[in-house]
Amino acid sequence: MTSRASIELGDVTPHNIKQLKKLNTVVFPVTYNDKFYIDVLEAGELAKLAYYNDIVVGAVCCRIANSDNQRRLYIMTLGCLYPYRRLGIGTVMFNHILNYVEKDGNFDSIFLHVQVNNNGAIAFYKKFGFEIVETKENYYKRIKPADAYVLEKTLRPKSECNNIDHNNGPVNSHDSDKSKAKS
Ligand SMILES: CC(C)(COP(=O)(O)OP(=O)(O)OC[C@H]1O[C@@H](n2cnc3c(N)ncnc32)[C@H](O)[C@@H]1OP(=O)(O)O)[C@@H](O)C(=O)NCCC(=O)NCCS
Repeated sequence: MTSRASIELGDVTPHNIKQLKKLNTVVFPVTYNDKFYIDVLEAGELAKLAYYNDIVVGAVCCRIANSDNQRRLYIMTLGCLYPYRRLGIGTVMFNHILNYVEKDGNFDSIFLHVQVNNNGAIAFYKKFGFEIVETKENYYKRIKPADAYVLEKTLRPKSECNNIDHNNGPVNSHDSDKSKAKS
């Protein structure tokens, strides 16, 4: 009897953080520093490993970014090992994050950076309603092309955002780019 492949998400813990590091090293051209991984251990539902038939094949790591009177979710990394792409694993990870922000109900948008030539990721995020809102020249220090697009998915109208007191949410003080070790 054949059974369907399973895709499940699991917590990042001190026991499996090395798997996350290894995965990120393989999937992303950017190196993430120790602070990134310390913060990830505190991120709760915002950091997850993806298992395909019990094997770690992907991970998503996000954090809350507060700036300009906006509360936004920043996707630091969302990636899947190459042989396991186009199987719906990225979708499962993104839907987890989308469920989180929708349940919270107090986010203005979700955003991330991608290298301008990362057509696969751009197509993936556009499918979920993201738009290119900005190009950051020389965003990356050690990889080519160095330019990044900012992709953003708005979650509520701007007029509504202006009336919200952002001092009451579960916030942290990071600026959007600080905990990322740029390559
Ligand atoms: C982007 C990424 C996470 C997508 O993960 P995935 O598991 O392959 O995504 P899914 O299988 O859920 O794809 C969902 C849909 O997105 C679109 N999509 C995904 N990858 C695509 C690609 N390479 N080209 C065109 N469309 C793509 C398709 O519409 C796809 O649906 P379909 O397979 O039914 O056509 C994966 O390519 C990846 O890990 N890339 C490297 C890391 C990265 O660049 N991350 C983005 C920056 S955080």
